[in-house]
Amino acid sequence: MRTIVADHPLVAHKLAVLRDESTPSPTFRHLVDELVTLLAYEATREVRVEAREIRTPVAVTQGVYIADPPPLIVPILRAGLGMLDGMTRMVPKAEVGFLGMVRNEETLEATTYANRLPDDLTGRQCFLVDPMLATGGTLVAAIDYLLDLGARDVTAVCLLAAPEGLAAVEAAVGHRAEVTVVVAAVDERLDERGYIVPGLGDAGDRLYGVV
Ligand code: URA
Repeated sequence: MRTIVADHPLVAHKLAVLRDESTPSPTFRHLVDELVTLLAYEATREVRVEAREIRTPVAVTQGVYIADPPPLIVPILRAGLGMLDGMTRMVPKAEVGFLGMVRNEETLEATTYANRLPDDLTGRQCFLVDPMLATGGTLVAAIDYLLDLGARDVTAVCLLAAPEGLAAVEAAVGHRAEVTVVVAAVDERLDERGYIVPGLGDAGDRLYGVV
């Protein structure tokens, strides 16, 4: 497993505004969308490409295109939806599958309540999007699920990670070279409720309200 922290002043600035509890939902959504485009740049560094001949107005040359089968972007509902548009804007050729997972706030274990994915992911590059890598339970379950369906590799794109969550993912799938985690920052720790500290609070609530 590889972990990539997108260490860049633009990322840090946008993250600082996101963390601020006084940032309202419309601004929060907009910033998440912008941040994802920066993370997508890192996350797609090894997206599979193919060369094809193109004719420019001047000459014939080789162009580099994203290869088939197209990458699959999988937002983990609900909060991952806030990262979907930014990803598809950067990779419009990608297809989108959905995984609905919720963590039990007492046991912190993840269960799947919705699933709209191809039955066979053989050879597909998958990009899981979920803003908060907290305990890691949801992400480990989602990564296992995609790899079991035959995914060629899985890149998780997250805004924030707790060291505990990264360690849990490392323990579960660290031996698998085909797993990458891209994150804007790694925070200090988890609190007793499983929230990332200092974090940004409940990402789903801040994106969509407390519903
Ligand atoms: N999920 C969130 O939205 N925030 C956290 O801090 C942890 C999990």
